[in-house]
Amino acid sequence: MITAENTAQPTTPTVLLSISNVEARYGAVRALRGVSLDVPQGGFVAILGANGAGKSTTLKTISGLVEPEKGSIRYDGRAVTGQRPDAAVGRGISHVPEGREVFPFLTVRENLAMGAFTRRDRVGIAADLERVYGYFPILRERTGQQAGRLSGGQQQMLAIARALLAKPRLILLDEPSLGLSPRLIGEIFTILTRINREDGVTLMVVEQNARIALDHADYGYVLELGRVVLADTAARLRENEDVREFYLGHRAETVRGDARRWKRRKTWR
Ligand SMILES: Nc1ncnc2c1ncn2[C@@H]1O[C@H](COP(=O)(O)OP(=O)(O)OP(=O)(O)O)[C@@H](O)[C@H]1O
Ligand SMILES: [Mg+2]
Repeated sequence: MITAENTAQPTTPTVLLSISNVEARYGAVRALRGVSLDVPQGGFVAILGANGAGKSTTLKTISGLVEPEKGSIRYDGRAVTGQRPDAAVGRGISHVPEGREVFPFLTVRENLAMGAFTRRDRVGIAADLERVYGYFPILRERTGQQAGRLSGGQQQMLAIARALLAKPRLILLDEPSLGLSPRLIGEIFTILTRINREDGVTLMVVEQNARIALDHADYGYVLELGRVVLADTAARLRENEDVREFYLGHRAETVRGDARRWKRRKTWR
């Protein structure tokens, strides 16, 4: 017999990515000092933190660009600690690095084709190309133009579009707002939200622009000196007094000690 009990849906979301006590260094520099975080399947997770906190390094350990010294990374139920970057791509992880890094002398179309280079399903690639042109109509207009001649915002769109053509399950985005106008930043985050909700792609976004990130993500982590110092829903982080003071530009009403370190940002936006 079908009862309410045995038809109930599981209430806890599946964890797609789980990082546990990850430590990483560049020579003598300890960049990560034991980072643990979970990213649910279909989630939109923001990673916040000051300059040098270890945000980019966290993404690099996931995509295999940096090998953790200690700790473990599980993706889709399997240990993937220290995997090579091509293995990460094969598992459906696309990394859009800081500074976008499009191929400047290739055309927009050729850049997009590079995103799909591991795929053989021509029909699927054509459909995905239409989908990214739908998200970013300017790329269709500029399809034959050299990527190096696009504006910064258009290059960021191209970098995201290229990541999408790999048909990823998880996209790692490193500071997509960097150097862009508030209008373009808003446009890009609106499209990221659609990619997350409509295509079900899990997003992990590193941002210095805490306001835009917390307005669009559903969960956030704050890093300080290679450690997670705060983890909560985006809604609660937006109301958190420390986040408001150090990342959202609000002044605390009370006099504070100077014991906190995570207050310096590269820029205030
Ligand atoms: N290639 C490298 N060689 C040496 N040290 C590095 C290298 N990359 C990063 N670091 C150091 O590791 C630490 C963490 O750097 P990371 O780039 O992960 O920080 P971040 O949070 O992304 O900072 P930002 O907001 O400036 O991008 C910093 O102290 C940084 O100086
Ligand atoms: Mg960085």
